[in-house]
Amino acid sequence: MKPSLSRRNLVAGNWKMYYAPEKAQAWVEQYIQEYPTNAVFQIEIALHVPFPFITHMCNILSKYTPVQIGAQNVAFAYEGPYTGEVSASMLRAAGARYCIIGHSERRQLFYETDEQIVTKIELVQREEILPILCVGETAEERQANRTQKVITKQLELIFEKQEDLDLKYLTVAYEPVWAIGSGKPATPEQAQEIHAFIRELFRQECGPEMANRIAIIYGGSVNTENAGKFFEQPDIDGALVGGASLNGHSFFEIQQQLQQIKYPTPPLPN
Ligand code: 13P
Repeated sequence: MKPSLSRRNLVAGNWKMYYAPEKAQAWVEQYIQEYPTNAVFQIEIALHVPFPFITHMCNILSKYTPVQIGAQNVAFAYEGPYTGEVSASMLRAAGARYCIIGHSERRQLFYETDEQIVTKIELVQREEILPILCVGETAEERQANRTQKVITKQLELIFEKQEDLDLKYLTVAYEPVWAIGSGKPATPEQAQEIHAFIRELFRQECGPEMANRIAIIYGGSVNTENAGKFFEQPDIDGALVGGASLNGHSFFEIQQQLQQIKYPTPPLPN
């Protein structure tokens, strides 16, 4: 059942650094085959593609389906001498409506800090791009019983700077690092426990209304077989999907499961 009228539900795909243009084209054909022309979705759907594909994918997908295109990262400055970086205003101009921020691969491989992450959220929000903030613990941190501590720390600056951010349009993605790309997802119960914990942090720091509104999605080895079990949990508002989003059929099926579970009464077609 839908827990709140105002809470957003979202399936976001993350292609990471996969796919040459021909494959992207094949993906669109797969997806469009599944997509019924009169379908109405009450959930949000985002697909995070590599920078060079953003405009092309907007042109061939967002015009005909509810899929909005997103970026996987953004620069931590408005503009300047940052060779190789892409700014929030450039993403906006390219057509991006969403942006993943602070993915564990960026935190670990590119040493992104919580300070940079909060700046990135501010910068994309100025361009009316919707940020998806990733948090999550490593296997070692979970074994040492530090999951809640790690997540609290990852969210600390967000709460400190909440006056400068528009938290109602933030999505938090709980992605335990050990579940990413491992084929070993968290159990729906493990994920629900941490989602409820994150919501409670928002309640303490921002009040009950924000806690109820904030969209918290799960990521880490989500596929067509297990997605529904996550979506049945009361505090799981959607999914951030890596590997399974590389197949247009699977990506469609996952979003359909979210729609059916959170909005059991189908909307009237347009
Ligand atoms: P997988 O779904 O491939 O585990 O990837 C999850 C992820 O990192 C999405 O951002």
